[in-house]
Amino acid sequence: MKVYLETYGCQMNVADSELIRSILVEAGHELSPQVDDSDVVLVNGCAIRENAYRKTYGRLDLLRPLRLERQRESRPFVVGVLGCMAQNMKEALFRHPVVNLVAGPDSYRALPDLIAKAGRPKEGGHRSGRRPKIKKEIDADLSIVETYSGVEPLRFDGVNAWVVVMRGCDNFCTFCVVPYTRGRERSRPKDEVLEEVQGLAEEGFKQVTFLGQNVNSYRTEGASFADLLLGAAEVPGIERVRFTSPHPKDFPEPLLEAIAAHPKICSHIHLPLQAGSDRILDLMKRTYTRTEFLSLVDQIRATIPNVALTTDLIVGFPTETEADFQDTFDMVERVGFDSAYIFKYSERIGTIAARDFPDEVSPKVKTDRIVRLFDLQHRIALEKNRDKIGKTFEVLIEGEAEKRVGHQIGKTEGHMMVVFPSTGLPPGALVPVEIKEASPAALFGEALRLSVLNA
Ligand code: 5AD
Ligand code: SF4
Repeated sequence: MKVYLETYGCQMNVADSELIRSILVEAGHELSPQVDDSDVVLVNGCAIRENAYRKTYGRLDLLRPLRLERQRESRPFVVGVLGCMAQNMKEALFRHPVVNLVAGPDSYRALPDLIAKAGRPKEGGHRSGRRPKIKKEIDADLSIVETYSGVEPLRFDGVNAWVVVMRGCDNFCTFCVVPYTRGRERSRPKDEVLEEVQGLAEEGFKQVTFLGQNVNSYRTEGASFADLLLGAAEVPGIERVRFTSPHPKDFPEPLLEAIAAHPKICSHIHLPLQAGSDRILDLMKRTYTRTEFLSLVDQIRATIPNVALTTDLIVGFPTETEADFQDTFDMVERVGFDSAYIFKYSERIGTIAARDFPDEVSPKVKTDRIVRLFDLQHRIALEKNRDKIGKTFEVLIEGEAEKRVGHQIGKTEGHMMVVFPSTGLPPGALVPVEIKEASPAALFGEALRLSVLNA
């Protein structure tokens, strides 16, 4: 069958879609670049916030005419919802008239079988003269062991490869749905991961990004997360090793030292703070106080010179007062993050917060707080980026700049986007770029010493 797959949400979903493609192609399906002539449409959906839901539902609504057309033609048509959204909503997704397949993040090996069953018309309807009934198939059982060992992801990007090293989360932060949609933590054996990295280097990938819901909680018998990073950094051909998303609770000194010691392990740490008030941090069950977070930041900066720090923040968590918000504002000012993802609290069914704390901060107050925090973060990022003017950074070229003709884009080690006049070098090349201009979200510069690099 021709399968069209669309992905929403975080990098884990992007990486999962690479596994899904591989499983489907292995089973004899053909991948299709467009919906219209597909027999199967799969939407790998996200559940983390309400707007992620809305996006997926909007997508499903657009498939209604096609569902009706296929029903008229008595042609099989499977519409499946996958990923965290599938796990979270399970059978409730069948209430949407186009959906007839639901598969959670630990059920992808069963997809070929589910598709085959869902694609067969239900017996009876056709013979009695009515339209054939749509069959509905679901597999949303979480596993404690599934790591998709032996499935080789089918990747498209040629510079960066996502490598899932652990799955699941045991933290149960009170606002978060992930522990319920992704299940318990489990890590892949170090040798298996490093073999994959070796293969990626041979295919020409220059960067690997280790992924996990709590990537730095990675541990197996005999290997720590630091061992894994160091192992990958030693693979010939790999120029950069990154990881996301970690939890502040799992940064032992040897991990920081590994990042500092190895030039190929990028000096960039995404350190989700979420909130700046101790009372809210406690209600969120984040397991650190603001003082502890600040001392971790000090320790990181002392160990890894020029480290880039980025973060996630939530405004409007239940009971958040103006004083609590000021604490978040104050923490953002004190730490000076290089960039931040800022979200309005969004109540997720099934979470501890949804059970225990009413979502009482008004939408207006949430908007007001998020705007103030955006403004602050913009100011900080602009200041930090302006400090980079006149300095030279090594940039990994990703490709052509979409918005500036004749320019390329790439990233610094600190994950800052850089735009510069095209060098003629291919994506994956490393090039020194002198920074000439800065905005809060990007740097603009000129590549240096191209003759040396081209030689
Ligand atoms: N509401 C708002 N933001 C959330 N996040 C996770 N759950 C929620 C929620 N219910 C944010 C956190 C997390 C990021 C991936 O998404 O900041 O770090
Ligand atoms: Fe969600 Fe907290 Fe786990 Fe991150 S650590 S995935 S925020 S429960």
